[in-house]
Amino acid sequence: MTPASLSLFPETELQIGRRLHPAPNASDTPTLYYSHPAGELWQGDCVKWLATLPDASVDVVFADPPYNIKKAEWDVFENQEKYIAFSLQWVEQAARVLKNSGTLFICGFSEILADIKHPASKFFNSCRWLVWHYKNKANLGSDWGRSHESILHFRKSKKFTFNIDEIRIPYNGHTLKYPSHPQAETSQYGKDRNGHLWTPNPLGAKPKDVLEIPQDLLEIPTTCNGMNEKTPHPTQKPEELLRKLILATSNSGDLVIDPFCGSGTTAVCAQQLGRLWKACDLSAEYLSWAANRLEQVHPRFVEDWKNQDIENQKRRNSIR
Ligand SMILES: C[S@@+](CC[C@H](N)C(=O)[O-])C[C@H]1O[C@@H](n2cnc3c(N)ncnc32)[C@H](O)[C@@H]1O
Repeated sequence: MTPASLSLFPETELQIGRRLHPAPNASDTPTLYYSHPAGELWQGDCVKWLATLPDASVDVVFADPPYNIKKAEWDVFENQEKYIAFSLQWVEQAARVLKNSGTLFICGFSEILADIKHPASKFFNSCRWLVWHYKNKANLGSDWGRSHESILHFRKSKKFTFNIDEIRIPYNGHTLKYPSHPQAETSQYGKDRNGHLWTPNPLGAKPKDVLEIPQDLLEIPTTCNGMNEKTPHPTQKPEELLRKLILATSNSGDLVIDPFCGSGTTAVCAQQLGRLWKACDLSAEYLSWAANRLEQVHPRFVEDWKNQDIENQKRRNSIR
């Protein structure tokens, strides 16, 4: 079976990129699977793939790695020590390829990331722990119901790119209507250090380290051109989450890479937002879904994506 025949979408002539079917006996040496004017999808082991990239050449690495919980065939490790050793191999490579202004995001369950954070920190200047909160995951069993995952935000240096204005949260009507009414002296909305009365930033409130985005992709409406982002990948991430992280830590034309790209969410969002991208996965089947998604990204202004995500957030808040 060819990768294309495993594809989620009907086999169509590729309009934008070129699908390069891997050699039948592809070793785990990375092979170029799909090439596009703005990026490349590679098939193979990501540690080997990262080793092919030059030092200090990448602006953002987004990694959603295996979890060592036997979620799928690719998620089986002999023990947690082997898993941590594997994680440090690719993290070291990710740190090497990042520019000084670069960011590494690592996505996963908190109890697993906790094992990786300390040993990985030696490759970076600082780290912030983001929480991705969702309310819509079915929770079976009799343990604590899961309603969050975590994202480690490692920064290569103090001068990391952080576009706070790109991800500000619009104030509600009340704050905008009464922006500077009297506040208690001790309130954060009182006078600032220079005695000025606080007024809301016209672009919105400072983004918080808890990101509220539904986990269930079906809750997120399809994009404007009718494309549905959902593929059968077992751990596909929502585009809305990736857009926020990419907007915050990169600029137009920057290079965003994903060593564990699965169904291609990072590459798709980088493409939507006018970034360059490169990504890798072991599975030709997942890469075929990624290539098909990339073929369906049509030109759209970045502001339109931002407004779409803000409107979705408002809609979700209004129905709670
Ligand atoms: C958690 S999933 C990523 C899902 C992805 N973020 C998405 O939105 O579809 C992890 C992916 O890593 C891939 N993988 C596992 N080990 C790998 C390795 N050593 N090198 C490259 N890819 C690997 C798996 O095939 C799987 O698709």
